[in-house]
Amino acid sequence: MEKDIIICTCEEVYKSTIVKAIKDKGLKTVEAVGEETGAGTVCGQCQDDIQKILDEINNK
Ligand code: FES
Repeated sequence: MEKDIIICTCEEVYKSTIVKAIKDKGLKTVEAVGEETGAGTVCGQCQDDIQKILDEINNK
């Protein structure tokens, strides 16, 4: 299994949490991930990383 990494340090959201939310709920946007997990809703610095995860999952 891929090593879990923290994506959003403001909200302490891990990659596994974001991946699961995207897959379970069929999320398509950084905003939707924010609503679901809280990631990206504070300083916004992690939003590029969230977008990359969205691309990885939804382009497969
Ligand atoms: S690191 Fe995610 S909002 Fe700040």
